Amino acid sequence: MALVNEHYLKLRAGYLFPEIARRVQAFTKTNPEAQIIRLGIGDVTQPLPPAVIKSFHQAVDEMGQAESFKGYGPEQGYEFLLDRIIANDFEVRGVTLESDEVFVSDGSKCDSGNIQEIFAVDNVVAVADPAYPVYVDTNVMAGRTGKADEKGRYHGLYYMPCTEANDFLPEVPSHKVDIIYLCFPNNPTGVVAHRHVLQTWVDYARQNQAVILFDAAYEAYITEEEIPHSIYEIQGAKECAIEFRSFSKTAGFTGTRCAYTVVPKALLASTKSGETASLNKLWNRRHTTKFNGVSYPVQVAAAAVYSDEGKTQVRALIDYYMQNARIIRQTLSAAGFTVFGGKNAPYIWMKTSGGMSSWDFFDLLLAEAHVVGTPGSGFGPSGEGYFRLSAFGSREKTEEAVERIRNKISP
Ligand code: MLT
Repeated sequence: MALVNEHYLKLRAGYLFPEIARRVQAFTKTNPEAQIIRLGIGDVTQPLPPAVIKSFHQAVDEMGQAESFKGYGPEQGYEFLLDRIIANDFEVRGVTLESDEVFVSDGSKCDSGNIQEIFAVDNVVAVADPAYPVYVDTNVMAGRTGKADEKGRYHGLYYMPCTEANDFLPEVPSHKVDIIYLCFPNNPTGVVAHRHVLQTWVDYARQNQAVILFDAAYEAYITEEEIPHSIYEIQGAKECAIEFRSFSKTAGFTGTRCAYTVVPKALLASTKSGETASLNKLWNRRHTTKFNGVSYPVQVAAAAVYSDEGKTQVRALIDYYMQNARIIRQTLSAAGFTVFGGKNAPYIWMKTSGGMSSWDFFDLLLAEAHVVGTPGSGFGPSGEGYFRLSAFGSREKTEEAVERIRNKISP
């Protein structure tokens, strides 16, 4: 018999979002009349912007003509998209990048999950608690951890608790770690990091020769002028950080799939025997071996995000979701719930009623209000007693959901 990768057997239950879907499906089977509103997974609901659709159509038409047909493209992405990414997402913020430092891909979930492959298995990995589950689960799968304890903490991982006491900001480790996952604006808590906070992390990483894996998938939701959108706005970050960006939450590409990862050429790591190695080269090797590039029409559609029309339309989408975030925050807070986030991020992090467990609160909301959210404990043990609501619903459903919560659930 073939042997399995036993590290997978250490994983707890199912991946968070399919587990939620399973519970909701079971509920609707016995309550077919319930009008469920889903504010659980952060999946967008508004259509792709017209400028994106127009370019998408044109590119599909090109694929139907022999003269403009495209087969395999460059695995790292077409130059036309790379150039727009660099000019619009980085140069405007004072960051220069070369096109071979940017890798277009089919998603930040995939990239932030796959990136650990280019690092040795015996690195010490630090994760915020709570955190996007992909960071932890992929390191468990790779064998970088032992088993989980009764609270769900995997032996061998360095957890950085993010609680009300530290304003949900992870604290710099007291000893040396090698790889650090940071996510700002944060999923799930919705908090952001000011420049001085990020500078502390970059300084720590450089002093300890650690690498920061910086997930900036929600940067477009930052509303406060002084908050950095990219880790590379911080002095020294190119020598210690990889950054993940996505078109999913910005331009509605969750179903279309396009993202990119920046691996600067100045970023070096070491072999066991002390020779330096370029992480850019390793990621390029992995990317070109295991990935054949995002389809041409999707890259053309993504490039349209940077046209004048595209920028205006994307801004309107983000404003729409941020208005939902305000509605959720204000209604729940006026009803007496304790809420965080939702100001620079499309997620609202709320305390459960009377210290109830996150999953009990999930069941209560589903049964009484027919509203689906995400239990905080699904993001890590420190998320216990919290609950995440997504602002990515439609306006109508968002208003209806918070009304139901206000009327049916006491804080
Ligand atoms: C979330 O709900 O945390 C995200 O939507 C999941 C994802 O982007 O993969």
